[in-house]
Amino acid sequence: MKVDVLLGLQWGDEGKGKIVDVLTPHYNVIARFQGGPNAGHTLKFQDKKHVLHTIPSGIFRENAQNVIGNGVVVDPVVLAKELKALKALGVPFEERMSISRKAHLIIPTHRLLDAASEAAKGKEKIGSTLKGIGPTYMDKTGRNGLRVGDIEFEDFNEKYNKLKEKHLTLLSRYDGFEIENLEDLEIDFFEGLNWIKKIPFIDSEYFLNQHLDINQKILAEGAQGSLLDIDFGSYPFVTSSNTIAAGACTGLGIAPNKIGEVFGIFKAYCTRVGSGPFPTELFDEDGKTIANVGAEFGATTGRPRRCGWLDLPALKYACMLNGVTKLIMMKADVLTFVNHVKVCTHYLVNGIKTDRFPYSIDEAPEPIYKTFKSWDADLTKLTKLEELPIELTEYIDYLEAELKIPIAIVSVGPDRLQTINRLPIEIM
Ligand code: GDP
Ligand code: IMO
Ligand code: MG
Repeated sequence: MKVDVLLGLQWGDEGKGKIVDVLTPHYNVIARFQGGPNAGHTLKFQDKKHVLHTIPSGIFRENAQNVIGNGVVVDPVVLAKELKALKALGVPFEERMSISRKAHLIIPTHRLLDAASEAAKGKEKIGSTLKGIGPTYMDKTGRNGLRVGDIEFEDFNEKYNKLKEKHLTLLSRYDGFEIENLEDLEIDFFEGLNWIKKIPFIDSEYFLNQHLDINQKILAEGAQGSLLDIDFGSYPFVTSSNTIAAGACTGLGIAPNKIGEVFGIFKAYCTRVGSGPFPTELFDEDGKTIANVGAEFGATTGRPRRCGWLDLPALKYACMLNGVTKLIMMKADVLTFVNHVKVCTHYLVNGIKTDRFPYSIDEAPEPIYKTFKSWDADLTKLTKLEELPIELTEYIDYLEAELKIPIAIVSVGPDRLQTINRLPIEIM
């Protein structure tokens, strides 16, 4: 048995949470492999919305085990909040979840360092979610990090204090940065650790490979999106982990030859939160319509998401990097409300036509568009493939022909049920 991977092909918020929840009945294990509480994955069923930050999106289904893998960075404060919310809903998380001993911990001073670093950058800030992601991954690669497994050792507080002191020295170098309420933040942190201890700590690489050996099905859930990848995204306006399929190997301890399907999710248009290049960004009425109808506000920070047309060069780039085998198109229903639909097919860079993703923002790629008729039907009530309007079918056919990968699912609303399969689920 192999591990299927589901990940975002754009700048995050493609709808990964919804689709993982939809696919979970077909899997035995759902595993997050990178990122941390910068993620906000939204699920909707029975008229209720749920937002998960650290916990895999299979948690609401009875059939699956949910694993937080070694590649994830975990903030006990955020995780505790998520666990309390699950408890209030009666979800038996202790039975459905486990966490890798090798996952790194976000401590309060990581969050302060994130804030100080962003403040110091001024206008050039990344637009980080300020969850401490960058500083925690820096400590991981700098070999100074604190891991979940360390919680079980007697010298945990000693290790914690050593790391905190190092951070305080670094923070003192940021002119004008005031440290406020660190003691309160630490109280929350240590209370959070007590919640984390309710979840089994495991060697997730053994756990997952043993499940493969007994023919169990595993779905790896990505966070963020391919264009935020630390190596291949629009650097430096990226996150600090490998968001692409290769990240599932290192973030879970899965060998490359054990990867099966790679589900690539994209919105029928594009969004981005935070700073950085966005060639197809809209500043007109269409942009406002997409933002309003699509309710494009960050699930973690509440910030408005920038909106724009679908960017094919960027999407092709993401498909190449990930080896996408099936595509999933989200939020087609939102485009009902624009007058026409545009797709960027190429860029003009210094007068030269190209479909390569640019090296840097300085190249200022100018999009070249192909225009499609929009559709005039409320898609949110549709349940059958045959009911999709002809204009949407043409849009889908065009994208499949360009990307040379089948679009297996079309999502027409936030609810679990607002999902139309174009390929039978059992062949996925
Ligand atoms: P994720 O980070 O990739 O899991 O995505 P988010 O949850 O941050 O953002 C996706 C948003 O779109 C959420 O508010 C979802 O409820 C919503 N959503 C997902 N699929 C659809 C869809 O097909 N149509 C509409 N209108 N909303 C959707
Ligand atoms: P999900 O999993 C959208 C963006 C931030 C910022 C940049 C770096 O919900 O798709 P960081 O906090 O990682 O240092 O921020 O990355 N970003 C996301 N944008 N969805 C996310 O996650 C994101 N996680 C980080 O806005 O531009
Ligand atoms: Mg999100």
